[in-house]
Amino acid sequence: MFGLKRSSLRDNHQIDSKCDRGGATGLKVESMTKCLCQYALLILITTFLPLFCTSLSAFERRHAPLFPPDKIFLLEEPRDWQDTEEIMDRLRISPGDMIADIGAGSGYFTIPLASRVGDKGMVFAEEIQIEMVNYISKKVEKLGLNNIRVVFGNAEDPSLLDDFFNLVFLANTYHELEKPFIMLENIRKDLKYNGRLAIIDWDPEKKSPFGPPMDMRVSKSAVIKDVERIGFDLIERHRFMPYHYFLVFRKKP
Ligand SMILES: C[S@@+](CC[C@H](N)C(=O)[O-])C[C@H]1O[C@@H](n2cnc3c(N)ncnc32)[C@H](O)[C@@H]1O
Repeated sequence: MFGLKRSSLRDNHQIDSKCDRGGATGLKVESMTKCLCQYALLILITTFLPLFCTSLSAFERRHAPLFPPDKIFLLEEPRDWQDTEEIMDRLRISPGDMIADIGAGSGYFTIPLASRVGDKGMVFAEEIQIEMVNYISKKVEKLGLNNIRVVFGNAEDPSLLDDFFNLVFLANTYHELEKPFIMLENIRKDLKYNGRLAIIDWDPEKKSPFGPPMDMRVSKSAVIKDVERIGFDLIERHRFMPYHYFLVFRKKP
């Protein structure tokens, strides 16, 4: 610290004496150059800083912590506020469909989805928490279901199959995504031509007696903006749930 201070004092002194030697003209040129440099720097900052900040906020949005595996029993409680049959009807889930249930948790939706798609269809239950993966695997084994694959993915990539699914289903998970854009790009790759992406999540505009804190929820408009930006069209909005929005997108060709 001391050395730094001493040398900067010495530098200032040198500048002063240089100015003295150059006289008035030298001083003028030097201060004009300094002024121009400051002006250019100001333009650079005002032009690029807002751009940098926008992209940062879009890519690094705050996300909720992952649902704690020791509370998995909460995910198994029946939900009269999120009717599974109604959701599947609205999505027109049919025998033979290939579905990815991303952020499957305890498999609350995985099992009913699998019974709708039947033997000719398949449901991939994907999770990034090993405890959830193990829990679903045990459940699937116990029920003897062979049209479910359990997949251990990561925060960027669900590690599924390219060009394979008719539908990707994300329920109560979007607000936890750490890297929504990379995830969405990978989800887009996994969908077949004309494939759909369904997102159901906690609406920050609807008060609820439980669920994630309001400031951790992602607004409907932000989700629509994110998803459309990656190459999807919003095709349906369903409004029967008291605390959630339910959006359906189609992959653009
Ligand atoms: C609140 S739970 C919902 C589980 C289930 N969809 C349901 O509605 O019962 C959210 C789950 O998403 C998972 N998750 C969060 N980020 C994820 C990601 N990038 N990829 C896959 N799963 C993720 C968490 O581990 C957690 O189990």
